[in-house]
Amino acid sequence: MEERKEKMIVIFPYMAQGHIIPFLSLALQIEKKGYQITFVNTPLNIKNLKQSLPLNSSIRLLEIPFNSSDHRLPPETENTDSIPFSLTLTLLEASVSLKPAFRNLISDLVRGGAPPLAVIADIFFGWTAEVAHEFGIFHTIFSSTGGFGMACYYSVWMNLPHNYTDSVEFTLPDFPEAGLIHRTQLSANVLAADGTDPSSKIIQLLLSSWVDSDGILFNTIEEIDKIGLYYFRRKLSLPVWPIGPILLSVDSRARSNKVCGISSESCINWLDSKPQNSVLYISFGSQHTISASQMMQLAKALDSIDINFIWVVRPPLGFDMNLEFDAVEWLPEGFLKRIEEQNRGLIIVKWAPQVEILLHKAVAAFLSHCGWNSVLESISAGVPLIGWPMGAEQFYNVKYLEEEVGVCMEVARGTNFEVRNEDIVKKIGIVMGENGKGKEIREKACEVKKMIENGGRDEEGYKGSSVRAMEEFLNVAAFFGKEKKVRGQKCRMNT
Ligand SMILES: *[C@@H]1O[C@H](CO)[C@@H](O)[C@H](O)[C@H]1NC(C)=O
Ligand SMILES: *[C@@H]1O[C@H](CO)[C@@H](O)[C@H](O)[C@H]1NC(C)=O
Ligand SMILES: *[C@@H]1O[C@H](CO)[C@@H](O)[C@H](O)[C@H]1NC(C)=O
Repeated sequence: MEERKEKMIVIFPYMAQGHIIPFLSLALQIEKKGYQITFVNTPLNIKNLKQSLPLNSSIRLLEIPFNSSDHRLPPETENTDSIPFSLTLTLLEASVSLKPAFRNLISDLVRGGAPPLAVIADIFFGWTAEVAHEFGIFHTIFSSTGGFGMACYYSVWMNLPHNYTDSVEFTLPDFPEAGLIHRTQLSANVLAADGTDPSSKIIQLLLSSWVDSDGILFNTIEEIDKIGLYYFRRKLSLPVWPIGPILLSVDSRARSNKVCGISSESCINWLDSKPQNSVLYISFGSQHTISASQMMQLAKALDSIDINFIWVVRPPLGFDMNLEFDAVEWLPEGFLKRIEEQNRGLIIVKWAPQVEILLHKAVAAFLSHCGWNSVLESISAGVPLIGWPMGAEQFYNVKYLEEEVGVCMEVARGTNFEVRNEDIVKKIGIVMGENGKGKEIREKACEVKKMIENGGRDEEGYKGSSVRAMEEFLNVAAFFGKEKKVRGQKCRMNT
C-alpha cells in the first residue's frame, strides 16, 4: 500500500493534441516501469482521452475544471485543435488560470493519502513547479521536442534578437554555439514580437518559470543532441535528462482525430512492390500544409524526376481543412493519370501510416516539415530527411540535422518561400543519389539509427544513455520525496 502511494506520478500537458499525445506516450512508458500515472487535463480533453487509452492501461484520468466561456473562447473549446489559429494565444493565456484548480487537485491527492512522487508538466506549465514545491513534490518539465530546437526556440523568445538588429542574420546572445540564425527561420509571431506584444509577454512569462523546476526531460538522445542539452544545463543549472525517443505509441486515430486516407495494408503492399531505397515519402504533418503554388512546384518536380513516391496531400494553405477535398484541383493537369500509368506514385489524402512507411526498406528518404515527432520516427528508422520546415522550432531542427548531425538537406522554408521545381529535383537527386553527398547522408542516417538503438538498450551489463537518464530522473524524484525538509533547494546531479 505504502509502496504504491510513493510511486504515483502526475502528468499534465498543455491542451493541444501535439502536446497531449507525446505526454500520453511518455505516461505509457513510465507506467510500464511499475508507476501509477494520474493524467490531468480539462474535461473535454479527458473525455476524448478515455477513447484513446489502451484497454490494458491503468492510467487514471483526472479532470481539472475549465470553462472556455469564461476566457473569451467559444463554448466547449479546450484544445488548440478546436479553435481558429487566431485564438491560440487566448487559450494559452487562459491556461494560466488553471493554477488555483491545479493546487486544489494536488492538495486533494495529498490529503487523500496519495501524494504524488513527481509532477511532469508541459513546457507551458512551468508555473506548476510552485504548486508542487508547496507540497514537497518533485517537479519536472517534459519537452516533447529535441534539445537543439527547443534551445533555439527558448533563446529566441527570451531574447528577441531580431528586435536589436537590422541584419538578416544574427547569433543568439546566450547560445552563440548555435551559429547564425536567419530571419526566415523565425515564425511570424516571433517576427512580430518586440517584448511588449501579448505573444512575447505570455511566452516569456511561461518559459522563464522553467528555472523553478527541478529538472527537464527531453524527448531526445544525448549522443545526437549534446549542444542543445548543454544550453539548458548551463542556462538553468538544472539536471537535464534526455529520455528519448518516446515514439508516439498511441492509436493513430487519437493522433490527429482525422480519418485515415489509406489502410496500412494497402500502403505496405504498394511498398512491397518497389525496389529497396527507391521511394521518397512526403508529408508535412497533421498541423501544416504548403501553399497552392508550392504544391504545384512540388508536383512538377515529382513529374520530372524518375523516382517512386508516397505523398500525403492535404488541402493547400487558405483552404478549409474540413471541406471536401479533391487533390486533382491543385495538381498539374494529367499529373494523377501519369503517375498512375507509370505506377510510381501513391497519393494519400490527409493521413498515412507514417511509422510503417518509414520502417519499410523501399523508403529511401523523407521530405518532411521536420516536426520533432516526424524527425524521431525517421531517424529511428535510419531514413534521411529533406527538410521543409513550416514553423516553431522546425527551422532549428532542420538547421541542426543538416549542419551538425548530417542526416538532412533543406529544400525550402515556410509557406512564403518561392520554391522552384528545379531546386526540389536537385535536392531529391542529391539525397536519393547513389554516390557523393547522398551516400554520405544515408550512411550517417544508419549511424544515427544505431546510436538511438543503443540509447534505448537495457540489457544485463549495459544500459543505454536514455535508459540511464530515465532511471536517474526517477531516483532523484524518489530521493526528493524522502527529503521534504530540503524543499525549495534545487537538487543537483553529479554527472
Ligand atoms: C499493454 O499492451 C501493449 C501491447 O500489447 C503492451 O506493449 C504494453 O506493455 C501493455 N501495457 C501494460 C501496462 O500492460
Ligand atoms: C460555462 O459557462 C457558461 C457561461 O457562464 C455556462 O452557460 C455553461 O453552462 C458553463 N459550462 C459548464 C460545462 O459548466
Ligand atoms: C524592440 O524594438 C523597439 C523599437 O526599436 C523598442 O522600442 C523595444 O524596446 C524593443 N524591444 C525590447 C524587448 O527591447
